[in-house]
Amino acid sequence: MKVTDLANAVFEYLKNIDDEGLAPFIEKFPSEPFKTRDVQKNDLPVFSYLPKLDTGANVSTRGIVEQFQSISEYFCWGQTYSVEDFGQTFLNKYGWAELIGLRGPIASEKIACGFLFLGPNVLYPKHNHESEEVYIPLSSDQDTFWVQGDDAWVSRPAGRPIYHKSGIPHGIKTSLSPLLALYVWYGGDLAQKSEID
Ligand SMILES: [Fe+2]
Repeated sequence: MKVTDLANAVFEYLKNIDDEGLAPFIEKFPSEPFKTRDVQKNDLPVFSYLPKLDTGANVSTRGIVEQFQSISEYFCWGQTYSVEDFGQTFLNKYGWAELIGLRGPIASEKIACGFLFLGPNVLYPKHNHESEEVYIPLSSDQDTFWVQGDDAWVSRPAGRPIYHKSGIPHGIKTSLSPLLALYVWYGGDLAQKSEID
């Protein structure tokens, strides 16, 4: 089953990143044999940007992106927000696909792990949630900017973890390129709609 191959690839990928902050995320990953469930496939406007992803020169990151692209249709893509929250333009350029968790094709009650996808020139305004979170940007890093709390917006290198502690407001802004980022959550409500700051 292809989603289990991707789950194993993600697990190996995370284990090979030299960053001790990842330990509490990695240790909660499910192991084989995975519990799987059928998920409803769907479609979102943001998919039109998927072929335009710039995976850059980072070989390990590119491997995950290409595996993900090859099975992106196997996921139930979600949008936590409504038009009232951030407007229709945002919804046209935003979506996430859970791989592991309460809703994804691989079941876990300890973590949620999946992919956030943003189109170009979109602002994902500051929001926060109870769960501890790590993002790992997988696509071109030069023109995507990240913010936490009252800090300045900064670009972050592909393949390096970005941690958001429980309840800390954080946001993302893309420029010319779309963004694909891996995320893992643990603790708190793993299916929470984030609070908008
Ligand atoms: Fe978050």
